[in-house]
Amino acid sequence: MKAYPTPIPNHAAPQENIILIGFMGVGKTTVSARLGRMLRRTVLDTDQIIAERLQASIPEIFERRGEPFFRAAEHMLLSELKRESGSVISCGGGIILRSDNRRLLRSMGTVILLTATPETICARVSQRTDLPLLSENRTLSHIQSMLKNRERFYRACADLTISTDQKSVARICAKILALLNRRDAEAKAAHGNPHFP
Ligand code: S3P
Repeated sequence: MKAYPTPIPNHAAPQENIILIGFMGVGKTTVSARLGRMLRRTVLDTDQIIAERLQASIPEIFERRGEPFFRAAEHMLLSELKRESGSVISCGGGIILRSDNRRLLRSMGTVILLTATPETICARVSQRTDLPLLSENRTLSHIQSMLKNRERFYRACADLTISTDQKSVARICAKILALLNRRDAEAKAAHGNPHFP
């Protein structure tokens, strides 16, 4: 039998940004790249844009300019990205630390929180050298304590939450698309078609 490519269903309003947030190591960058390809949308990665603009890696920026400088750059970039539409935006893990960023994120599109257990995160970041906030301490207890401090901020921004533990990138993307479709179907049933009123 002839195999046809699986059609991409019409998820998420074409103009709506899909924004990925979550702790380091949950897979935001990989998932956003795949999601962008699947939906044929532009992918914007805040860390990558900051690093390109400053022509330095994230660890170099932290080391030379300090975390407050990085956070200010991150905030300025997010304010700029508010003008985007229809993009997949992958955010650095600490973007939710500022209340003005949390407000911005919520106004910019559908915010998807990727999660993982501290154990999964610990295993995933063990070999990474690009995470200045974990460079000196990558222990489970340090990760647990950072997660505990941040959890309420992640939750406060999130429209949808997806656990990434033991899931492939393909499965996480399929889950995101299924959740977006379900949300849109529910909105349509309640208020008529949200995208074509
Ligand atoms: C950070 C996460 C990193 C990067 C920086 C700070 C954080 O991004 O922005 O190292 O505070 O959680 P990723 O979550 O994409 O690794």
